[in-house]
Amino acid sequence: MHALHFSASDKAALYREVLPQIESVVADETDWVANLANTAAVLKEAFGWFWVGFYLVDTRTDQLVLAPFQGPLACTRIPFGRGVCGQAWAKGETMVVKDVNAHPDHIACSSLSRSEIVVPLFSDDLCIGVLDVDSEHLAQFDETDALYLGELAKILAKRFKLPRSEERRVGKECRS
Ligand code: SME
Repeated sequence: MHALHFSASDKAALYREVLPQIESVVADETDWVANLANTAAVLKEAFGWFWVGFYLVDTRTDQLVLAPFQGPLACTRIPFGRGVCGQAWAKGETMVVKDVNAHPDHIACSSLSRSEIVVPLFSDDLCIGVLDVDSEHLAQFDETDALYLGELAKILAKRFKLPRSEERRVGKECRS
């Protein structure tokens, strides 16, 4: 087992402590779900965010489907292009929302969430899912979070292996 150490109070410094520890945890494991589950747990413990987790692309339904997370009960399926998560998937871009109630297409899984960041995960040029983080505080996330969570998305995606049976279908339908 890995012993985790977090001591930094500054956000960027905390990311610089946390990311190598997540990298070390996922380096020992090839199972994608196990790695996402431990990543959500480490992020929750280190940052104390309200909700942190993953949605993965399901090309059969053109939806994001809930994957490992930490926090309260969440919406299970999000259509392509809908909500902050679906938009991050559709655009292939990180979305930072300072006030979710001012966002025209935010999907509220909890009324306590006030701000959000969603970072797409890519395997080669295919969007395979998103990392979603919610806060009870307004304007919790900024370019520092976008930078380091983007780095984290790359660390995770390196461990992603598409099941051979899925390769053609996902590869074809994920590309825009
Ligand atoms: N707020 C997200 C939905 C997922 S939950 O926040 C966990 C959205 O608008 O896509």
